[in-house]
Amino acid sequence: MSAQAADIELAKTSTLEQIVQRGTLRVGLEAGYMPFEMTDKKGNIVGFDVDMVREMAKAMGVKLELVNTAWDGIIPGLLSGKYDIIASGMTINQERNLKVNFASPYIIVGQTALIAKKSADKIKSWKDLNQPGIVITSKLGTTGEQAAKRLFPKATYKSFEMEDQAMLETMNGKSDATVYDLPMTSIFYSQHGKDAGMVFLDEPFTYEPLGWAINKGDPDFLNWLNNFIVQIKNDGRYERIYNKWFGS
Ligand code: ARG
Repeated sequence: MSAQAADIELAKTSTLEQIVQRGTLRVGLEAGYMPFEMTDKKGNIVGFDVDMVREMAKAMGVKLELVNTAWDGIIPGLLSGKYDIIASGMTINQERNLKVNFASPYIIVGQTALIAKKSADKIKSWKDLNQPGIVITSKLGTTGEQAAKRLFPKATYKSFEMEDQAMLETMNGKSDATVYDLPMTSIFYSQHGKDAGMVFLDEPFTYEPLGWAINKGDPDFLNWLNNFIVQIKNDGRYERIYNKWFGS
């Protein structure tokens, strides 16, 4: 076979076969999104997504490799083949779905708001965020950022590279609110926000299914993932991992 023919053959091969042949599942994620992927005291990346993909690699009979990647480059990294799959709390939205395929959702979350102590009087509901003079923070390139701009066009939006920076800005009273995914805002609120007098508006105001992203045109891999989700959701594995990270 010529080199070119070999390339064409490889391109036709499902990512699934490549993973099995390689003996390693390479997962792209960005540590910093609690409790899905974060760095522990020893420097290991741990979390709900990590335990799920560990289970995935086990079911494939391969080793697991985590590739920590900045959020704004996470889809390009998948497209250029740096990893086989993104498992990083990624919201399935239609814009991203033009570029990648998503397996069926593994959890549903939504946007919530953390309010600065100084702004608690004027912001009682997420609807109060759409006012001139209100400064809202979130993380660059996320659905939190998209929701803030779309739902609160009268407010001023300020973007941060990492979610904890966006929330600290509000905790320190430099902004009025942070809009972000529910599990993460809830953890930040109980760990820091509550003591700092922040108010947590915990009723989600968007609907956000999270899913694993893979390259388009790979029905074999997608089929494997969707059946894997159904299986773990019903045989106790999902529940055990869920309870470990979200409490029972
Ligand atoms: N669900 C949000 C989104 O898809 C935030 C995900 C951030 N994930 C991360 N690992 N930092 O935009």
